[in-house]
Amino acid sequence: MMADKREKPPAWGMGHVGDTSGHHVNTSLIKSKAQIEGIRKAGRLNKRILDMLEERIREGVTTIQIDQWVHELTVANNGVPAPLNYKQFPKSVCTSVNEVVCHGIPEKRKLLSGDIMNVDVTSILQGYYGDSSRMFMIGEVSPEARKLVQVTKECLEIGIAQVKPGGFVGDIGSAIQDYAEQRGYSVVRDFVGHGTGLRFHEDPQIPHFGQKGKGHPFLPGMVFTIEPMINAGHYATTILKDGWTAVTRDGSLSAQWEHTLAVTSDGVDVLTA
Ligand code: MF3
Ligand code: CO
Ligand code: CO
Repeated sequence: MMADKREKPPAWGMGHVGDTSGHHVNTSLIKSKAQIEGIRKAGRLNKRILDMLEERIREGVTTIQIDQWVHELTVANNGVPAPLNYKQFPKSVCTSVNEVVCHGIPEKRKLLSGDIMNVDVTSILQGYYGDSSRMFMIGEVSPEARKLVQVTKECLEIGIAQVKPGGFVGDIGSAIQDYAEQRGYSVVRDFVGHGTGLRFHEDPQIPHFGQKGKGHPFLPGMVFTIEPMINAGHYATTILKDGWTAVTRDGSLSAQWEHTLAVTSDGVDVLTA
């Protein structure tokens, strides 16, 4: 989601208590066991859709064809594709090719050998949201692009590994930023992970950069995405005239992987796995 850079006052009333470490705790971020099972069902549909795409996506396929496949499989499973008509997004899935950072709109261009593409699927099932994305490599992909895709996948895994009670949202961004920057890449600032499950985008924001020990504490029952966007060049982005497509300002390649997960009593549960 687009990062909200406004300074938000802590408008925390009932349901918000101070914990012993002095960090504020927003208990409205916590989902019930039943809600988490509902989100997991939506997440499993997401996984099946992405698995289906892995069998079908190849050179010559258009991104509009991918949109049709996602729409058909979602609806066939009694789901609703969350992107369709969300804030006037025109399609059922986001397809972000090469220098597109996120929110690419499916179109008639054929995928070419050498392209790298993120496909971001969000399914609504019985009112619950699952949000996940993967990278696809088309035909013969350059070693540089392969490396970016692989390191970005590792950034997601490293981010997930930070999640456990006792830690803080900032631990995720700190670990991802260190890992990406040590390898000469940059972390996109303008889009962040987010709470999800009952609505598409909920609090809190989950930046993929930042400082360990900062931000909201991890509490069992919190459900959010981690979805690092990593650029081969500078992290700056710009949005095309269609109002959606975010691209790297310097034209460098960008990659992204995403999972939705829940904090458990002693760690993390990946709901889109
Ligand atoms: N799935 C994206 C995310 O991870 C949001 C896409 S919004 C859309 O937050 F409208 F472009 F679909
Ligand atoms: Co998301
Ligand atoms: Co997504």
